[in-house]
Amino acid sequence: MITDRVKNLISEIEQTEVQNKEQLEAFRMRYISKKGVVSELFDGLKNIAPDERRAVGQELNTLKNVAQNRFQEFSTSLENNADSNPELLIDLTLPVAPNLQGSLHPLTIVRKRIIEIFERMGFNVSYGPEIETDWYNFSALNFADNHPAREMQDTFFISKSEGDVKDDVLLRTHTSNVQVRLMERQKPPIRSIMPGRVFRNEAISARAHCVFHQVEGLYVDKNVSFKDLKDTLYHFAKEMFGKDSKIRLRPSYFPFTEPSAEIDVTCFICKGKGCNVCKHTGWVEIAGSGMVDPNVLTNCGIDSEEYTGFAFGMGIERITMLRYGINDLRFFTENDVRFLRQFEGA
Ligand code: DAH
Repeated sequence: MITDRVKNLISEIEQTEVQNKEQLEAFRMRYISKKGVVSELFDGLKNIAPDERRAVGQELNTLKNVAQNRFQEFSTSLENNADSNPELLIDLTLPVAPNLQGSLHPLTIVRKRIIEIFERMGFNVSYGPEIETDWYNFSALNFADNHPAREMQDTFFISKSEGDVKDDVLLRTHTSNVQVRLMERQKPPIRSIMPGRVFRNEAISARAHCVFHQVEGLYVDKNVSFKDLKDTLYHFAKEMFGKDSKIRLRPSYFPFTEPSAEIDVTCFICKGKGCNVCKHTGWVEIAGSGMVDPNVLTNCGIDSEEYTGFAFGMGIERITMLRYGINDLRFFTENDVRFLRQFEGA
């Protein structure tokens, strides 16, 4: 009886194949371990009649050897195969490879920095809609009906009004629309910056895009003067571009400010000596600005006899390009990780 069982077990062992560590362990548990069949049979030896015990013992020894040899064979062959099995190739003693960290988009970094600088000067942050009506984007800002910026080549219209009343719906062409919305619903003092996305019907190139970002600034109160505008932007330039930065104001024109000025900052790449970025002038333009036109205050329900204000608008892409020496606007929207990774930890 027992001899038959041993024979069956031997042939079972010889037919068993082991492919992986789990199966090898199952093999060991079934045949070789203390709770395995071989041990169990050895334990039963004491119940065998003494005259048969020797012969059965020998058979059990054979079974034990077969099982152990087979186990040894499997172990060696699994070990040899480990080289071709990637799962077993992992070297657990190696240091852990760090997870790849994402990075903030350079435009986000610069927007956050701009907000931080102005918040320290007491400005809060406001937002307004990207889909806007003609009133908020143009008319309230003192754009004459025939102003060229209203033309189709600049503005993405969503729906055009048919009658005399200008109630076109459009994608805002600048963040100045938020000025109007703020002044409409808030009494001065108002001190706010307004970051956001703007849209213009431009062909995409290194220097132009149909979607870009601006930060608008507005300060309305009693006795706000042109000097306040200049001081505020001077402080901003020093914080943003370094303490040796200087600014200069060039006369300009915007329908919603009077007087208006373009703000230049000393080129921080060549420190004003002249280079490619500043086209050898030593200055780079960073913002448009001016004193809020009294017509705009009136349009928004603010008494222009009592209050004055200054406003400015700057392009986030432009400041980012200047700050990081980026020479093509398209990098910002292509999401090429080789570009984006350069801002890790910035
Ligand atoms: N909205 C102007 C633009 O898109 C920028 C600007 C200029 C904003 C002067 C202002 C300002 O608030 O006072 O080009």
